[in-house]
Amino acid sequence: MLVFGGTGDLALHKLLPALYHLHRAGRLHADTRILALARSQQSRSTYQALAERHCRAQVARSEFDTDTWARFAERLDYLPMDASQSADFGRLGKHLGTAQDRVRIYYLATAPSLFEDIASHLKIAGLAGPKARIVLEKPIGHSLQSAQAINAAIGAVFDESRVFRIDHYLGKETVQNLMALRFANALFEPVWRTGHIDHVQISVGETLGVENRGSYYDQAGAMRDMVQNHLLQLLCLVAMEAPVRFDAESVRNEKVKILEALKPITGLDVQDQTVRGQYTAGKIGGQEVPAYYFERNVDNDSDTETFVAIQAQINNWRWAGVPFYLRTGKRLARKTSEILIQFKPVPHQLFGNGEANRLLIRLQPEERISLQLMGKSPGKGMRLQPVELDLNLADAFQQQRRWDAYERLLLDVIEGDSTLFMRRDEVEAAWRWVDPIIQGWHDHYQSPRPYAAGSNGPEQADNLLERHERHWAEPQDPQY
Ligand code: BG6
Repeated sequence: MLVFGGTGDLALHKLLPALYHLHRAGRLHADTRILALARSQQSRSTYQALAERHCRAQVARSEFDTDTWARFAERLDYLPMDASQSADFGRLGKHLGTAQDRVRIYYLATAPSLFEDIASHLKIAGLAGPKARIVLEKPIGHSLQSAQAINAAIGAVFDESRVFRIDHYLGKETVQNLMALRFANALFEPVWRTGHIDHVQISVGETLGVENRGSYYDQAGAMRDMVQNHLLQLLCLVAMEAPVRFDAESVRNEKVKILEALKPITGLDVQDQTVRGQYTAGKIGGQEVPAYYFERNVDNDSDTETFVAIQAQINNWRWAGVPFYLRTGKRLARKTSEILIQFKPVPHQLFGNGEANRLLIRLQPEERISLQLMGKSPGKGMRLQPVELDLNLADAFQQQRRWDAYERLLLDVIEGDSTLFMRRDEVEAAWRWVDPIIQGWHDHYQSPRPYAAGSNGPEQADNLLERHERHWAEPQDPQY
């Protein structure tokens, strides 16, 4: 496995710890080697020390031991190279040797602006043989046009079955559990549709700011960084029809149909159906944090959004008239990823104070699925009270270690299974829906609404729901 961007955050914080876990669990082939590539001149041993420092910080203490690390480090090599220089790929080829029968995985943990160059240089250097696979990190491009250009350049070198576009949300255990919940249980299917569901909320909040990714983030913003990929993928899994089989083509065919059914939000509709925000100074966990525009490598007059809320609509038979509310932001009050399915109230209220059922699927911080039902509170009279049918997945599967999303996905790449990766048309369909919204913000000068770090986002995001007498699910709600 060759990791371009080997000294970057992604490689050091996510990929190497995931590979270490796979090594420790005996899931890597004895011959597996990992070659990190980056521009900085350093020796193999310096890189190994850097990797060790980061892995120690990321891996739980009970799972890190020096012997296992030493054996893992034997697999780990480093080569300084500039991925934009074709000559450096000749050197890379020499370093790799001539064996053509090896499976080679090129992991592009770099800025998307390098994807096209890397693919074509690999081809010219004869390094993209039939056993080579390529893994692309999101975002694929920054617009439909740039995504198409990247996909075409990659497609000219690697056929689609060898291209793995990663969205780490699809590797999260509860996201896969969502599919199990929907397609391995008969209970929900009859009510999983318009007529029974009032609306759906998908919220992904973070307490972190942009950390040291300011220069990337300031060009991207929350829409490209989170909505175009993670949130739309979650939406697809909630909304798609049952695939015929659980294989790459069948699953992805169903997801594409949802992306294509998303009602475009264009022109002035962006003012009505979307809210963008940007954090100002505030407090997170009691600590003062600066406003977004004072973050490192961010423009002082930046109008990049760090928060987005959208009212989306899926134009098909199952979902006609059911709003899907999406919300994501940095520097919010809490870190959470959750999906709320809000059912409609019973058609006739027998007992006066009933509330509608809701199903809450929590991906983070804990993995939990809970169904809120109405029960009678003890004592005289029919006083109703919401009660939770709670499935805490971490408790239910206690003895089993929870895999990080990257562990699962890296293993899938090694095994050549692309079910949980985004197909070319999927990425492009997502951009086709996202681009007009970004354009609408631009055309109508919709600058981001300020919200204090540590809050729940701008109040306009609440209005998006309140005008329809709905509200975002927050932990302070009695029925949360
Ligand atoms: C990444 C984004 O894809 O996902 C980051 O680029 C974001 O900005 C991260 O912080 C969130 O992932 P998770 O797994 O922590 O929810």
